[in-house]
Amino acid sequence: MNVLIIGNGGREHALAWKIKQSSLCDQLFVAPGNAGTASLAKNVSIAADNFPDLAKFALGNSIGLIVVGPEGPLVKGIRDYFQADSLLKHILLVGPGQSGARLEGSKDFSKQFMLRNNVPTARAKTFSSHQLQESFKFVETFKPPIVLKADGLAAGKGVIICSSVSEAKDNLREMLEGKKFGEASAKVLVEEFLDGIELSVFVLTDGEDYVILPEAKDYKRIGDNDEGPNTGGMGAVSPVVFADADFMKKVEEKVIQPTITGLKDERIPYRGFIFIGLMNVGGEPFVIEYNARMGDPETEVVMPRIKGDFLELLIATALGKLKGKSTSVSSEYAVTIFMVSGGYPADFEKGKKISGLTAETEALTFYAGTKLVNDEVFSDGGRVIAVTGLGSTLEIAREKAYARVATINWDGAYNRADIGLDLQRLEDNRK
Ligand code: AMP
Ligand code: GLY
Repeated sequence: MNVLIIGNGGREHALAWKIKQSSLCDQLFVAPGNAGTASLAKNVSIAADNFPDLAKFALGNSIGLIVVGPEGPLVKGIRDYFQADSLLKHILLVGPGQSGARLEGSKDFSKQFMLRNNVPTARAKTFSSHQLQESFKFVETFKPPIVLKADGLAAGKGVIICSSVSEAKDNLREMLEGKKFGEASAKVLVEEFLDGIELSVFVLTDGEDYVILPEAKDYKRIGDNDEGPNTGGMGAVSPVVFADADFMKKVEEKVIQPTITGLKDERIPYRGFIFIGLMNVGGEPFVIEYNARMGDPETEVVMPRIKGDFLELLIATALGKLKGKSTSVSSEYAVTIFMVSGGYPADFEKGKKISGLTAETEALTFYAGTKLVNDEVFSDGGRVIAVTGLGSTLEIAREKAYARVATINWDGAYNRADIGLDLQRLEDNRK
């Protein structure tokens, strides 16, 4: 089968790497892809949200399956676009339609969905621009920190954690009246702060049945010890020590099952990934958010731990035939370190030549914001290279990842030095 992956990040490189290993994969394409996907697949220069050109390409190249990486095309309705056309509707696609993608595209919708379906989540209320005074009154019922969330997609920047009531009010005014995040903050959720450790759980579902993929912990802040501003993700670890069988049983029974049942009850068809962002609060899972896709950099630790044919599982998902399917997971640890451009997540320079990529190494190297110029790799974004180390212990996986990071360089390259250290300490304490 010919497969088309949509997207251009480290996530899509890791998906391409895994899918390429399948005996079911004939030709593999990535649109638009990056310098890393170019070495495994054929990059196609079409933007992720250009549905007419993607459709033309899919028909012209006998694409049997499309895997949608990022949320943008899902929220914009790529599945609906293909389904509405008699020539395109037979092409299999992993990713929900617009109705399902609202789980990610609207934080108000996803909160109401959780409440309707008894999925444990933080207390919250949604306000629109004419409700500023009501939102202020609601804020006063909380003890800080207070969480504000723009309802719509805001490129990962729509969540603000405020350390005082007055800071929350200032931000509410900017979001609701000043449209700080444009239309995305036309509505804002005021939410209770959950104090715990975060965990990302991934599910593949065809809307009836589901397969749980390996969990991961993402490191969101730019600096060591979780200091500084939020980023798209500076590293990830899988497995996660506190996600033991007891905790995962709670996640399955209290979160995953009610979510899938809720989709069915509300007649929301769903064939794709659900990424559940959870907080472990005193041993109980609470949902922070749903995403309608895989995470990045989580995919770079999840894919290497999945054994067997992942493409077969993706095809079964898209066909609605997940019943009876499962996946086996390696007991190895995976640690991903993201190398980013100096200055990220604020202003940074692009176009720096990257050295050391061809060094002999035991780690996997996934490319994100990169481009090829005359066969040389240059930085082309904030998050540039994700390196994944694998090992029988967390310590070994970390060492392999950091050894690989040490071989790669460009002007201004930066990475966190502490990815996985907190989990290693937790493991040591449990011994
Ligand atoms: P999001 O953009 O929804 O991924 O949220 C960004 C980050 O904000 C999350 O990864 C959490 O670290 C944090 N966050 C969101 N909601 C809450 C909450 N209710 N309590 C504590 N932290 C939160
Ligand atoms: N790493 C978080 C995300 O992909 O949203």
